[in-house]
Amino acid sequence: MLALLTELRDRARTVLRPEVWEYYEAGSGDEVTLGEAEAAWRDFRLRPRVLRDVSGVDVATSLLGTRLRSPFVVAPMAFHALATPDGECATVRGAGDAGCLTVVSTRASRPLEDVAAAASGPWWFQAYLMRDRGLTEALVRRAAAAGAGAVVLTVDTPHVGRKQRVAGVRIDVPDDEYLVNLARHLVLGAVGRESAEQDPSMTPDVVARLAEVGGLPVVVKGVLRGDEALRCVEAGAAGVVVSTHGGRQLDRALPSAHALADVVAAVAGRVPVLVDGGIRSGTDALVALGLGADAVLVGRPVLWALAAGGAAAVTSVLEELAGDLRHVLALAGATSPADLDPGTVVARPRP
Ligand code: FNR
Repeated sequence: MLALLTELRDRARTVLRPEVWEYYEAGSGDEVTLGEAEAAWRDFRLRPRVLRDVSGVDVATSLLGTRLRSPFVVAPMAFHALATPDGECATVRGAGDAGCLTVVSTRASRPLEDVAAAASGPWWFQAYLMRDRGLTEALVRRAAAAGAGAVVLTVDTPHVGRKQRVAGVRIDVPDDEYLVNLARHLVLGAVGRESAEQDPSMTPDVVARLAEVGGLPVVVKGVLRGDEALRCVEAGAAGVVVSTHGGRQLDRALPSAHALADVVAAVAGRVPVLVDGGIRSGTDALVALGLGADAVLVGRPVLWALAAGGAAAVTSVLEELAGDLRHVLALAGATSPADLDPGTVVARPRP
């Protein structure tokens, strides 16, 4: 993990309310998947190229037609206002200033329109399919109208994973921040908040439906198998995200780092493949990009940054990661992620 991230994590731990810290850090079940996420990127070794001119290294990339200064993307996460007063408005400003894309959660604590107004860079909207499908569709329409560039449909959450660490812990979220984007559409009493729970009967047809509703590409998040990724692409997905939801859904799910190559092989370049879970340095990202990912999402480090230093710290984290990636790319003999040849990343030889 980069030193800046360790520093921000330590600071976040001291400034956040203890129950919020635990909510951010927690994983589901016995936290096996959570515990393996970071280490899994270290199961790979690099075979650098030499005698190549790496005096200029460029990590700029483009995703679904959007030009980005680096392949680091802010992962969708709930309730940023628990970390900083401006919530997601600070996140999109901080990420935009680093030339990065932000994915804004359905469970954001600031209205989408405010987030859009604060954004200094591109943003996508993360959707859950809720029991009241009209609610999801209304949100997708709103996101599209507000300027979202894509919809990220999270599919690993038919039910919210049980997090024993925070079981029974109450986090007080002010009413005007709790599901703020849903509240407008919920007719409390008539429909009730259970309408905003995830719909466990979701099937692939939802991908095309949401694409039609929003007129935006739909990227499917939470895939760990090549065959499943292919099903998503066949259903119309414009991209897939290899993810264990930060170890917060199915415990003992394969770490993303180990699931990535199978998905990349199955998708075979038809759509971009993104990955997240435990990415904490340029070298972690280099492994992911070398295995064929087009971009990497970063979760908790962004929350640590928000808590420790608001938007400016988010910019610093993303710039530090991009700088580290440039550095290790040069050491690996590549001038850009696309310049990495397929033989660069290999499984660590077992003794
Ligand atoms: C998440 N994640 C998540 N994912 C999603 O699709 N919608 C959401 O609302 C949330 N909320 C959320 C809250 C918190 C506190 C965390 C830590 C995570 C999962 C997130 O998008 C991402 O997949 C992981 O966080 C990536 O792993 P790292 O970088 O946190 O290890």
